[in-house]
Amino acid sequence: MKAYKTVTIHSPANIAFIKYWGQRDPELVLPFNDSFSMNMSACTTELVIEFFTDSSIQQMEIKEFQKDQYRPSTEKELQKVQTFYPVAKKFLNAESNFGFSIRSSNSFPLKAGIASSASFFSALAYAFMIGFEKQLPEDQLSVLARLTGSGSAARSIPDGFVWWNARTSSETSYAYSLGKPEDWDIVDIVLVLNTQEKKVSSQAGHRDAPSSPYFQSRQEQLITVTAAMKKAFESRDFTQFGTLLEQEAIHFHSILMTQTPPLFYWSGKTLDVFRDVVDLRAAGVECYATTDAGENVHIIAKESMVDQIVSFFNKKAEIETIIINKPAPGTRQIS
Ligand code: PMV
Repeated sequence: MKAYKTVTIHSPANIAFIKYWGQRDPELVLPFNDSFSMNMSACTTELVIEFFTDSSIQQMEIKEFQKDQYRPSTEKELQKVQTFYPVAKKFLNAESNFGFSIRSSNSFPLKAGIASSASFFSALAYAFMIGFEKQLPEDQLSVLARLTGSGSAARSIPDGFVWWNARTSSETSYAYSLGKPEDWDIVDIVLVLNTQEKKVSSQAGHRDAPSSPYFQSRQEQLITVTAAMKKAFESRDFTQFGTLLEQEAIHFHSILMTQTPPLFYWSGKTLDVFRDVVDLRAAGVECYATTDAGENVHIIAKESMVDQIVSFFNKKAEIETIIINKPAPGTRQIS
């Protein structure tokens, strides 16, 4: 059968400077706290979707990092897309149906704590909006991306530096841009230490977050931390910004490690990089470390420091790949 339409969506992953962890409403994917992130220029998903009139056609192929060939999606991967279809249809008040064939390719390792779900699901939300022949304003497209189940996908929709207000209702819990990509010349240097898929999904992690004895105190502290972070961003105070984001990464992983069951995403190699970053700062190379739900480290620095940082880490055998990201635009239809 011939597709009646084919479109391509390009979407970035994002790295959170303030992490969302724990959901007040898992069904609606409503977070407990505000979060703040930057879209990543070199960690992206390109999703090509063909639309068919026969709505029984539902298929997907995935091309992984550094692979030449597409592979069929697993049942679990396809199921997440299929589960989102009726959610999107309802949200968009759509009456028509469509079949789809998706080819998704990633410029970075999947499910290794580099927010591959954010780039994929934000692209999917955009693609289904087109499939159901609707146009949403950016804030509501961000809500739709959140409803995919990957909350951080909401932050990949707007451009550049993105804030997600937690809020308590579904329509108002969306992300919006606090600054364009060109507004600040900072970079995210991803040190890939491990390309293996993480063993525990972030969904299970969110569910257990409140079991940490430190969860409540993190929520209380985040009130001042989010305000200070916003101020540091607005005044482009990189030292304050970096100090806050590195502390936040450590606090976030302290919650993970103390929830029940505990989540140990960091490895010894992750800790070694955090120590290296402290040493680099002492040597006058200003940079700060953060991680997502994974072992790989994101080093945040001013663009002028990239060469020094990369040449330092290039010498370390345990680093498989280095990916340099500038702040990037959000989700776009490119053809
Ligand atoms: O996007 P989700 O719902 O799978 O949750 C992931 C949340 C973190 O990536 C761990 C943190 C964040 O704010 O990006």
